[in-house]
Amino acid sequence: MTTGTDVRQPAHAYLGHPRDAVRETFERAFFAVELERLLAEAPGGRVLDLGCADGLVRELGGARVKEYLGVDLHPPADESQGTFLAHDLGEGLGPVGGKPFDLYFASFGVASHLAPHELVRLCRELAEHARPGSLVALEALGLFSLEWPALWETAPGPARMLPYRLSAETWVHPWAPSELEAIFADAGITTLRGVDRSIQAGPKVGEGRYWPGLPPVRASLNDLLAGTDEGVGAVEALRALEAPLPPLPAHPAAGMHHALLARRQELVRAERGLSPQRLARAVWALEPGTGGGFGHGLLAVGRVGRRPSGRSAVG
Ligand SMILES: C[S@@+](CC[C@H](N)C(=O)[O-])C[C@H]1O[C@@H](n2cnc3c(N)ncnc32)[C@H](O)[C@@H]1O
Repeated sequence: MTTGTDVRQPAHAYLGHPRDAVRETFERAFFAVELERLLAEAPGGRVLDLGCADGLVRELGGARVKEYLGVDLHPPADESQGTFLAHDLGEGLGPVGGKPFDLYFASFGVASHLAPHELVRLCRELAEHARPGSLVALEALGLFSLEWPALWETAPGPARMLPYRLSAETWVHPWAPSELEAIFADAGITTLRGVDRSIQAGPKVGEGRYWPGLPPVRASLNDLLAGTDEGVGAVEALRALEAPLPPLPAHPAAGMHHALLARRQELVRAERGLSPQRLARAVWALEPGTGGGFGHGLLAVGRVGRRPSGRSAVG
């Protein structure tokens, strides 16, 4: 599963990318919950944050994180916020020291910012570095997200690489749960679960770049969180939440997205009296807690097994 496409990320694509209210309100809370569960499941508190940006995992983990190392192409300069390493994960795990971590974590789709062969190598190297029992939780972009129906039937590799705009253009490669499970298995990591994030309101859902006619649900939730409760803003926000979906490919994912829309339409009809923020929270609460790769993000969680004889730990 190599791509031949050079997906080395342009250095500036990740810098200065604005954060919206949905991220700061709902998506941070999603990772706070998942991280709390993971830290309880992998006690010890030694955490490696892959693609750490400004160290969200350290911030969310708080005192439960005893030792923290963040790795990123662009780690923060301020070491008072933690220990950071500037490294390209496309070249492997990198010089993270010999001591295993209890948890190897990557939030906000980092796994999809690597080419397939780079992700395979990273998983192998981190499983070699880990101790038996360490947890691995890597978030990729979900293949069956409503944002990119044109990818649903594609095979891993070049046909699935998606041009993707952050602060500048870069490339991403979404994944299905079964594919991540196979990459984990190859590395000696047993998959425990997948968790979908942001099924209704992926950041690219209303932009029209990958599929025409999708309602701008995320923009609506951002408007509602900002307190839009009258005038054109409120009308537009409600319209987008109730809008029908455009024709989608005949694929099981379409049924899931239609069923979720039907629940959202019912909620919006029944709860017009709610304040904008409450309505936004009620819509977000409809997220079904699946792990099928239907969300913008797909958090793949696995546990490192015993090393087969003949494979040695990285020392
Ligand atoms: C979508 S952001 C996620 C940031 C962070 N995990 C968070 O939760 O805020 C992706 C991050 O991965 C980093 N990244 C992308 N490709 C990388 C690579 N090949 N090696 C190291 N870091 C990389 C970017 O610099 C960026 O900070």
